[in-house]
Amino acid sequence: MARHSNGYTALQLALHWLIVLLVFFQLIFGEDMGRYNYFLRSGQDAAPLVTGYYLHVGVGIAVLVLTLVRLGLRLTQGVPTPVPGPALQVRAGEALHYLFYLMLIVTPITGLLAQYVNMRTFGEIHAANKPIFILLIVLHVAAALYHHFVLKDTTLRRMMVPGTH
Ligand code: HEM
Ligand code: HEM
Repeated sequence: MARHSNGYTALQLALHWLIVLLVFFQLIFGEDMGRYNYFLRSGQDAAPLVTGYYLHVGVGIAVLVLTLVRLGLRLTQGVPTPVPGPALQVRAGEALHYLFYLMLIVTPITGLLAQYVNMRTFGEIHAANKPIFILLIVLHVAAALYHHFVLKDTTLRRMMVPGTH
């Protein structure tokens, strides 16, 4: 994957923060989706939950599409070289980023498979993605704050200001 030292582009930063907002929305309101399906199955009036249903599907598909765009930009525009540090720290950071990309693709796809192919199999996998996502976010945010306040390097700043490295 192309590496350069010019920092992230404005578009890469915008996509990072937009996807953060959309994923938080999904994690916070995701249970409405299960409730909607349960109401339908048990013959209760699901109409009040239908907006939540469309939002969950729409926002989830948006995450998938925006992530693919972001990976495409990563290939064409490259990513900044890692902030210097011990090899293990750099490796761990990269591994966490790849895991995030994997989750950003697998989660919406298992959601689609749950809703439209087989709820029993894929619904459980999809729901299990929630604690995994939360764990990754906690580690990721802790790492970002550690870089910013303890190591005092540019890791967090370059995720805010285009061209910082
Ligand atoms: C990044 C994207 C997504 C995230 C983070 C996400 C997150 C969640 C969460 C947190 C839940 C609640 C799980 C629980 O009750 O414990 C949920 C449920 C659900 N989501 Fe998603 N979702 C995403 C995309 C999608 C998409 C694109 C669909 C497609 C229709 C979808 C379909 C569902 C279904 C069917 C349920 C109910 C599953 C069940 O009750 O077993 N999700 N989602
Ligand atoms: C849903 C939540 C989040 C997801 C899915 C996510 C995902 C990602 C991914 C995939 C990367 C790697 C970018 C690349 O080089 O290709 C990244 C980088 C980064 N994220 Fe997040 N992020 C989330 C939340 C946050 C939050 C809340 C913060 C701030 C506290 C943050 C700070 C950073 C920083 C500083 C980097 C740059 C690391 C570097 O340049 O080495 N992220 N994020």
